[in-house]
Amino acid sequence: MKITDILLAEHIVFHNIFDHIEKTLPRLRTLAEIRAMAAMLEDLLRGHSQTEDELLLAPLEHYLEQIGQRDSFEHEHHEIDANLLKIQQARTVPEARRLLQHAVAYSRKHFDHEERIVFPLAEKVMKASTLRELGRTWLRKRDALPG
Ligand SMILES: [Fe+2]
Ligand SMILES: [Fe+2]
Repeated sequence: MKITDILLAEHIVFHNIFDHIEKTLPRLRTLAEIRAMAAMLEDLLRGHSQTEDELLLAPLEHYLEQIGQRDSFEHEHHEIDANLLKIQQARTVPEARRLLQHAVAYSRKHFDHEERIVFPLAEKVMKASTLRELGRTWLRKRDALPG
């Protein structure tokens, strides 16, 4: 499977998680619940972003530079992580809720941005065999994870 298909499939799962958070968030009543949700999302997104940085953004760096987007996506990854970490310091439920809403909205925008720019660019400039080889690398890395 091509790395672009794998990452896009992960995106679909994340879009479902974002929907779930947006639906559930108004009902959460304690800081602990909101923090736990933010920590879970942060953990899951970190894995996805690291894979993207290594297997897609790094090989595309030169092409992204040509369209003036060399650092945009990695920057957004850091921003997403920082947004979610901030929630652990929130002092009130409304503040934590607002921060998580913002983090989800920002992440959604980032995902749309990648789906419109990065994935089509990769499909255009990289050979299908390279994309499949990167897909195999992804599988090997996943197998190497504990548990
Ligand atoms: Fe990303
Ligand atoms: Fe992504």
